[in-house]
Amino acid sequence: MKILVINGPNLNMLGRRDAEHYGAETLPAIGRELNQKAKSLGCQLTFFQSNHEGAIIDFIQENSDRVDGILINPAALTHYGYSLHDALLDAGLPVVEVHLSDIKAREEWRKISVISDIAIKQISGLKKQSYILGLEALVKHIKREKK
Ligand code: DQA
Repeated sequence: MKILVINGPNLNMLGRRDAEHYGAETLPAIGRELNQKAKSLGCQLTFFQSNHEGAIIDFIQENSDRVDGILINPAALTHYGYSLHDALLDAGLPVVEVHLSDIKAREEWRKISVISDIAIKQISGLKKQSYILGLEALVKHIKREKK
C-alpha cells in the first residue's frame, strides 16, 4: 500500500512556529515517526511539502495514479484552497485531512475547511498525533475497501 503525505504552506517551519498551537517538533521529526508507524501498518509513504498551491496540485496530479490514498495537512490552504480541493477530488483517492492545532477552537476564518467535504476524515488538535491517527484511519479505510 502506498500513501502520499502532503504538507502545505509554512509547515516546513515547524519547530519555529507557535508551539502552543503546533507543538515543538519539526516536520522531518514528524515524518520519521510516521515512517515508523507506516512500517508497522505495512505501507510506504512519499512525502511532499510546498509553500505553493500549484506545486502541491502538480504533485497530486503526477503521483495519484500510483498510490492508494492521501494524508494531507493543507495548512492555510485548508481555508480557501479551492483548486487544491478540486485536485484532491479529481485524484479519486481516499483523503484524510489532518491539523496539528484545533482549527475549530481558533479564529473564525480557521474554522472553515474547504477540503473536509471530500475527506473521509478530519483529525484536528492532537499535534503530531493527528498525523499518526490520520494515517491509521486512512490505512484502515483502504484495507476495508480492498476486501
Ligand atoms: C494548520 C492550521 C492552519 O489554520 C494553519 O494555517 C497552519 C497549520 C494546523 O496544522 O494546525 O499552517 O493546518
